[in-house]
Amino acid sequence: MKVAIIGTGVMGRGWITQFAMFGHEVHCHDSNKKILDGVKPFVAKLASKAVKKFALEDPELPDRALAAIHTYEDRGAFVDAAKGCDVFLEVVFEDMNLKCNLLREIVPQLPENVYFWSNTSSLDIDVMAEASGRPARSIITHGMNPVPFMAGVEVVPGTKTSPETVGFARDVLLEMKKLPFLAPNIPGFWVNRLLVPQMLDAMRFLETGQITVEDGDVGLRTSLGHPQGTFKLADFISVPTMLRVALEMFQNTNDPRMYPPAILARMVKNGDHGTMTGKGFYDWSDPRNPKPRDFGAYVVKSADDLLDMLK
Ligand SMILES: NC(=O)c1ccc[n+]([C@@H]2O[C@H](COP(=O)([O-])OP(=O)(O)OC[C@H]3O[C@@H](n4cnc5c(N)ncnc54)[C@H](O)[C@@H]3O)[C@@H](O)[C@H]2O)c1
Repeated sequence: MKVAIIGTGVMGRGWITQFAMFGHEVHCHDSNKKILDGVKPFVAKLASKAVKKFALEDPELPDRALAAIHTYEDRGAFVDAAKGCDVFLEVVFEDMNLKCNLLREIVPQLPENVYFWSNTSSLDIDVMAEASGRPARSIITHGMNPVPFMAGVEVVPGTKTSPETVGFARDVLLEMKKLPFLAPNIPGFWVNRLLVPQMLDAMRFLETGQITVEDGDVGLRTSLGHPQGTFKLADFISVPTMLRVALEMFQNTNDPRMYPPAILARMVKNGDHGTMTGKGFYDWSDPRNPKPRDFGAYVVKSADDLLDMLK
């Protein structure tokens, strides 16, 4: 199979690795050249990790995966390559307007048989499906980070998605050893509808000085069996993506628990983006041994602290 992927950030490159490891040809594009240039080194690392983790007796797998990947700086060249693909997968920022504008521009140029998949973590498939102009062949396949190591994929059909489109997505995912499950088309679907408000609550407790990063994560790991804890997870998701997802979910639900706490915007502004920038809720200078950071400077204790944020 051939797949066209737009957006090669945290999740795009996870999907690129996944498809390429399973012998699919991948054509990908990102508007940020630096991010696009990082794809192949990242895939080489992740595919080698997968060989070790799954004890695959296939030392050539990383090289084979790399050979299956084609990157395009030029949008036009990417769209031309996408014309010969079976699936067009969008993995750009969590921003409905951005996604719909890209879909309106690109998808109508592709042959009618090409499926449109979205990796959105919270947005309405029906709106994107209409923008793509092919609602019957549109579906959400929401992978988890890092894609090659997380089996679950949330599959969200829209009101006009055909049963054949659902079946095709399930078959492709199962063939790649993923575990697809159906989720409702509500903001955040199943996983993020439950997870995001909890993560935002944790950040509010941090911002009001009631919990530390370290105690918060130790508590969740040792008492609820979370593999990482909420703050470390946020660093992997990336702080800017948390901010975008929270805002979109608030706008689509009007639920005040979804409204992003100020700490998220302040961290984005300060470059504390998580693992990608080496600093988030943790200091990632030594990626094998991340250190929980002291958030004293982010705690809001007085009106002056709040006013300082506006400077
Ligand atoms: N980060 C996670 O853990 C996670 C998990 C599941 C789903 N998601 C979803 O996946 C999608 C992508 O998130 P991410 O975490 O990979 O974000 P990211 O910021 O790491 O990557 C998004 C990429 O989109 C690119 N992009 C933006 N506008 C573009 C355009 N016009 N043309 C081409 N490329 C463009 C950016 O340059 C960036 O590299 C979002 O919908 C997000 O909600 C994220």
